[in-house]
Amino acid sequence: MNRRTGTGGTVMCLALVTTLWGVGGTVSGQDQGKDSRIDYQAELPPTETVNESGKMPFEPPREDAIPDDQYGAMVRLGHQIFVDTQTYASEFVGNELNCTNCHLDQGRKPNSAPLWAAYTLYPAYRKKNDHVNTYEERIQGCFRYSMNGTPPPSGSKTMTALVTYSYWLATGAPTGEVLPGRGYPIIQPPAGGHDLVNGEQVYQTSCAICHGTDGQGQKVSGQVVFPALWGDQSFNWGAGMHRINTAAGFIKSNMPLGHGDSLSDRDAWDVAAFMNSHERPQDPRFEGDTTATREQFHQHPGFYGQVVDGNLLGGD
Ligand code: HEC
Ligand code: HEC
Repeated sequence: MNRRTGTGGTVMCLALVTTLWGVGGTVSGQDQGKDSRIDYQAELPPTETVNESGKMPFEPPREDAIPDDQYGAMVRLGHQIFVDTQTYASEFVGNELNCTNCHLDQGRKPNSAPLWAAYTLYPAYRKKNDHVNTYEERIQGCFRYSMNGTPPPSGSKTMTALVTYSYWLATGAPTGEVLPGRGYPIIQPPAGGHDLVNGEQVYQTSCAICHGTDGQGQKVSGQVVFPALWGDQSFNWGAGMHRINTAAGFIKSNMPLGHGDSLSDRDAWDVAAFMNSHERPQDPRFEGDTTATREQFHQHPGFYGQVVDGNLLGGD
């Protein structure tokens, strides 16, 4: 497995992004009433999205404010694991992603499921596994599905460090309050459903330059600089990002990198559908029958168990 060391990759990405897009891009989004039928594996409840021109709902402490003591050392370790999971928690990861690939700006960015907005809201009931989840369990979910791995045990050093980093980012955040910018924005499905032809067009125009024409991302000297969007090294069929609606919200606010909120809702939705109509690692809840797995766990917009271009997706 290729390791990404330090933050060199990120620095390179940012340099390229700045060249390609300039800096900035606005952040905003839409709210919608939730269609409860859509999903067994429901997304988070709708939250106000954050507009760039508006005030930040909450400012997490700056990195240089990490205290120089034992607590600070654990915060730093959690930060390292979060931005470079490949190096600092490799034994728990089964693909080439890092946590920060989907929780941008080191887990700080509003509308990108920031950790400061998440931490104070747990324990919480999750429909996905039908019980009240601790914050540790929630993180374990991202290891199992988004990172296609085996989660670190509760109370382990890796887990404790990630929880401590989140706790520190939430320093001073009001508890029990859903802050604007939590999760990813919810966007409306386009009238008439997704259009894969348009999705492919958007992909080739706005995404392929970084993620590759084949969605496999790009490496420089063996280090991932642009993560894979599908295939063996990406998130698996159980991950939230494989749902068209969740991916569309993430993409709308955050992609193309450095140029968030530039796509129309229609284009964000279609490119999310195009991305998710490709094969990726099996849903870990699979017990030998794709149709049964689809019935039980995939009552939401997604391609698991469907035939696309003659291939049964998620068929093993
Ligand atoms: C492939 C993308 C992806 C990766 C990689 C990923 N996550 Fe997530 N994460 C998500 C999605 C999607 C959600 C759910 C957001 C929603 O439902 O709106 C989520 C939710 C979370 C939440 C709860 C957020 C909330 O507001 O309740 C936490 C905490 C979290 N992830 C931590 C992590 C950690 C730690 C890692 C690395 C071990 C990680 N994630 C890696 C996509 C990802
Ligand atoms: C300028 C380069 C660039 C462009 C263009 C770009 N991305 Fe990304 N994308 C990235 C980088 C870099 C990350 C990881 C971000 C990080 O770690 O901070 C990322 C992360 C992602 C992720 C989450 C991680 C994963 O691998 O699943 C998805 C999904 C994604 N991009 C989809 C898209 C889509 C769809 C488009 C086109 C609309 C797009 N991106 C355009 C650079 C880019």
